[in-house]
Amino acid sequence: MAIKPLITLKNVTKEFRFGKEPMRILRDVSLEIQPEQFAILLGPSGSGKSTLLHTLLGLEHPTSGQIIIANERLDLKKPDDLARFRLSRIGIIYQKSDWIRSLTVLDNVAFPLAILGIRRKEREARAMALLKQFGMDQRAKFIPSELSGGQQQKVQIARALVNNPTILVADEPTGNLDTESAEKVMQTFKKLNEEKKLTIIMVTHNMEYVHYASQTIYVRDGKVLSGTGTFLS
Ligand SMILES: Nc1ncnc2c1ncn2[C@@H]1O[C@H](COP(=O)(O)OP(=O)(O)OP(=O)(O)O)[C@@H](O)[C@H]1O
Ligand SMILES: [Mg+2]
Repeated sequence: MAIKPLITLKNVTKEFRFGKEPMRILRDVSLEIQPEQFAILLGPSGSGKSTLLHTLLGLEHPTSGQIIIANERLDLKKPDDLARFRLSRIGIIYQKSDWIRSLTVLDNVAFPLAILGIRRKEREARAMALLKQFGMDQRAKFIPSELSGGQQQKVQIARALVNNPTILVADEPTGNLDTESAEKVMQTFKKLNEEKKLTIIMVTHNMEYVHYASQTIYVRDGKVLSGTGTFLS
């Protein structure tokens, strides 16, 4: 029996308006991602990868088309419901970090758990354990702007995992890391994918990571060139 896709995009288009001129950034994108895949998104700068992720997550509303995650139509949900949906099952690493500037690193990482109603002691323990995993526990009391780009990226990864997501969406999560740290992050993702059955969708410009992928998705000029699975490993 065929496994049902975890994520489906059907004929998704996304336009942004500049004055009266609409600019079509996503063009009739259809793709499927099965549960437990490690999907890697590739494509030139400006091709629409981040827009595709934001639309898939409901952070941007599609101009047309359907987005289905775990049998739920995201394109029909209200913003509050979308936020709750993301919080309960998706971890997100943004290309541009989006810290709450007044909070410490620890409180930023623990923040999703605060919204989920988890008590301070437990959320701080979980956030601290993740910071430690990525070697950032010594920076827990800093504010994010006091960290380097690479350190912020590690903290973002910790925050994305704090709610024990079933889906991890990562937009160039290793872009600011040195080769060794980046490889460590990739190994961690691989382990989470294999052992915790985390479904991963990751954008990268680094072709060396393609061997980690069970599915590669090429984006060019707002179009997905292969969506249903090129199995390289
Ligand atoms: N909020 C927005 N308003 C208007 N245009 C946007 C918006 N977001 C993205 N775009 C446009 O959409 C196009 C695709 O941008 P996107 O960020 O998705 O590219 P990308 O593939 O992620 O590139 P990169 O590899 O550089 O991160 C760009 O031309 C960009 O200017
Ligand atoms: Mg991008």
